[in-house]
Amino acid sequence: MYEDHFGLTDKPFKLSPDPKFFFSSAHHDRAVAYLHYGLSQGEGFIVVTGPIGTGKTTIARSLLASLDDSIVPAQISTTKLNPEELVQLVAAEFNIEVEGLGKAEILRKLEQYLHQLNRQGKRALLVVDEAQNLPAETVEELRMLSNFQLDDRPLIQSFLLGQEELKPIIELPEMEQFRQRIIASCHLRPFNAEEVKGYIEHRLTQAGWQGNPALQEDIFEKITEYAAGVPRKINIFADRLFLYAFLEDLSTISIKDVQSVINEMGEELSGSLQSGRTTAASLISGSQHQQESNESSENTLNLSATEIQQILIDVGHVLDQVIQRKIKIIRYLDKLIATKKKDAE
Ligand SMILES: Nc1ncnc2c1ncn2[C@@H]1O[C@H](COP(=O)(O)OP(=O)(O)OP(=O)(O)O)[C@@H](O)[C@H]1O
Ligand SMILES: [Mg+2]
Repeated sequence: MYEDHFGLTDKPFKLSPDPKFFFSSAHHDRAVAYLHYGLSQGEGFIVVTGPIGTGKTTIARSLLASLDDSIVPAQISTTKLNPEELVQLVAAEFNIEVEGLGKAEILRKLEQYLHQLNRQGKRALLVVDEAQNLPAETVEELRMLSNFQLDDRPLIQSFLLGQEELKPIIELPEMEQFRQRIIASCHLRPFNAEEVKGYIEHRLTQAGWQGNPALQEDIFEKITEYAAGVPRKINIFADRLFLYAFLEDLSTISIKDVQSVINEMGEELSGSLQSGRTTAASLISGSQHQQESNESSENTLNLSATEIQQILIDVGHVLDQVIQRKIKIIRYLDKLIATKKKDAE
């Protein structure tokens, strides 16, 4: 929407994990380094954990995009799979026909396939995303898969990525054998303000940004606080901030604008009419209580002049907000029409 206006060639804050936009924060760099280390070792498990939206899938995609032909990857993003379903899914990801076959038969075919890769000088890499959804016995099945070996070298290697709930699964007493196979693990953390600045500017630059709109230095601290440093939340917020900058014709984004967008988004989440309604409703119900306790039989509201005035102020405030929003939408539609017209000429 705002891309053309600011001369951008791509959507800078889209939510899909695109390796093109990969930003190397210290934690992300470390996770990538561990994954590469794991690849160089060719055995054992690498585990990457992190809170929701901190970039686990993005890291996996970046890694897969950088692999050469000697590694044949399969990525599964799990729902709650039992061991049998896991084996089926893994085999299917490696394009092995599994229709109607039992687990033992599938495992046999999978082993044949891995041997065949080995003869071609290749090896298999299994990336399990959303691994926090796996029951412990399924994680254990992954360990069994890592037992496929030839001359003491494993034929398949696995990386596990998951939200924080993955940690307690791995720490279960019965997972000791699995734990002993973990050669490296790391935990992603949300960005600090400096990283948020680097992250936003990096994504913008990848999308062709040349400083329009300019970003004032003090906005990053505020954005970090609002989005808790989580990349996915930063993307959602920054996208709205740029839309706002476009609608308001801004050439510089200041902390005041960041605050306006925070307020707008807060109102949307809490329901914009809620506060006005609550005040009016509480006044009315307060007045009703008063009436009931006065044992009045009339069904009319007995509001004082001050209460009526307060309700009118609330209603006026709500109407103002609605009008402001409608004006914004109309201005936005105007702009969109003007842009389309320009494109058509
Ligand atoms: N290092 C990074 N560089 C660029 N973009 C990133 C980075 N980390 C996260 N993102 C962006 O943040 C968003 C969320 O990232 P991603 O989907 O990888 O998170 P996740 O940790 O896998 O989330 P979930 O826990 O929901 O699976 C995506 O839009 C992605 O593009
Ligand atoms: Mg993910």
